[in-house]
Amino acid sequence: RLLIIDFGSQVTQLIARRLRELNVYCEIHPFQSVTDAFLDDFAPKAVILSGGPASVIDEGAPRPPAKVFDLGVPILGICYGQQVMMQMLGGEVLRGEGTAEFGRAYVEPADKRIDLLTGWFLEGREQVWMSHGDHVSRLAPGFEVIATSPGAPFAITADLARNFFAVQFHPEVHHTPNGRTLYENFIRLAGFKGDWTMAAYRDEAIRLIREQVGDAQVICGLSGGVDSSVAAVLIHEAIGDQLTCVFVDHGLLRQNEAEEVVSMFRDHYNIPLIHADEAELFLGALEGVSDPETKRKTIGKLFIDVFQKYADQIEGAEFLAQGTLYPDVIESVSFSGGPSVTIKSHHNVGGLPEKMGLRLVEPLRELFKDEVRALGHELGLPASFIGRHPFPGPGLAIRCPGEITRDKLEILRKADAIYIDQIRKHGLYDEIWQAFVAILPVRTVGVMGDGRTYDYACALRAVTSVDGMTADYYPFSHDFLGETATRIINEVKGINRVTYDITSKPPGTIEWE
Ligand code: XMP
Repeated sequence: RLLIIDFGSQVTQLIARRLRELNVYCEIHPFQSVTDAFLDDFAPKAVILSGGPASVIDEGAPRPPAKVFDLGVPILGICYGQQVMMQMLGGEVLRGEGTAEFGRAYVEPADKRIDLLTGWFLEGREQVWMSHGDHVSRLAPGFEVIATSPGAPFAITADLARNFFAVQFHPEVHHTPNGRTLYENFIRLAGFKGDWTMAAYRDEAIRLIREQVGDAQVICGLSGGVDSSVAAVLIHEAIGDQLTCVFVDHGLLRQNEAEEVVSMFRDHYNIPLIHADEAELFLGALEGVSDPETKRKTIGKLFIDVFQKYADQIEGAEFLAQGTLYPDVIESVSFSGGPSVTIKSHHNVGGLPEKMGLRLVEPLRELFKDEVRALGHELGLPASFIGRHPFPGPGLAIRCPGEITRDKLEILRKADAIYIDQIRKHGLYDEIWQAFVAILPVRTVGVMGDGRTYDYACALRAVTSVDGMTADYYPFSHDFLGETATRIINEVKGINRVTYDITSKPPGTIEWE
């Protein structure tokens, strides 16, 4: 296995992701916990030293134990990792004055060709992502220059006798397009076969959950979404009936959603589940509310109250399980520390643990969405469930601009079910990141048969996206749109006009509120 020593870079997890994509097992450990004894015990086959925000020039700057360099295994130092390695091995690092580089840069090969760079420089220079203030000014003995960039004469250096490699840029990020090849070469020369799988991840995660939880009880807020579901099933595999799920039904779910979730977890998986049917409470509190932020805040607050009420009934609960993913973890860390604008108050159960005095179990913290899906698959969750489009915590409330009424919700549920049915029938579901209907707060005049109608208009939404941060509308064919509009108007009483939302994000958002 491979050891990643973390010096606190924002993107350390991406290194792990690149390696997992290459089917290599790795663990990230903060530099403080990597002692000589730890290294003996871990016995890594290769080591990666991550980037980090510190400066090696400062007193007390984080360092790996010197023993790392005596293990006789390949080492890759990235950014801060490169600098600390150079310094500890006898080179020199200087504070950047005029040599800082941030963002896109291009590296050019020096004369020497090495295995680490097989597949690189095929078309001349390579784009890389730099983010450094300090720079190496003198190489440690044994190192030679392999590639340079305008701001980093030592962009890639290596001590080939020891298989030590040092790069100034971040090969793990998307903006270093050929970075994956570099990792691939590194693990190959370290002798990894690339035979690690999600099954192994699952076993390891189960071991860690057991270790963390012991005999205590765990509660898990289940939303019916992929993340919390995968977390629940995984934890249930680890600790069985020590887990109780609480499914808060706020009356803003889609057609048949509550029944499906409850039956899957209770009947299929035999996971103890409390179905908190609190529709009256939520819909009552939302009566007359049309401001989007007020809706979100009302729902968020009630959600916490209700969850707490049910959780209090579970005796001996010490842990709260959450399906937090790695992007949630990075997003919650502020890059600049400066204030950011709230576009929408996202609703989740954050804030609960402090209030309830519970500790967190977050077995998906290191994973990205597609990895969670792979893990769900490994755990035997049905494919149709794993591939479900995301659904927001506040549910249909934010797809019903203006005042929410039970009538409107009922109409919306029916229209949405038909729209999704159409998308599935045409084989488009998996191409689309998210699709839904919004019921609009306007009624328009129509004619059906020989009669006048005066009913609601609705908008269809479908977007493609990688992460929900940006999105583009999905280019349905006119035939598809026409057929779907006809079905909705014919089959749903209360809607007589269908529109298609062709706004991208930005400037729009995916949801209507
Ligand atoms: P927007 O509308 O901000 O949505 O473009 C981006 C993605 O986030 C989902 N979303 C939410 N998810 N709680 C959630 O769990 C929320 O409050 C929430 N608001 C939006 C939205 O469905 C889309 O996938």
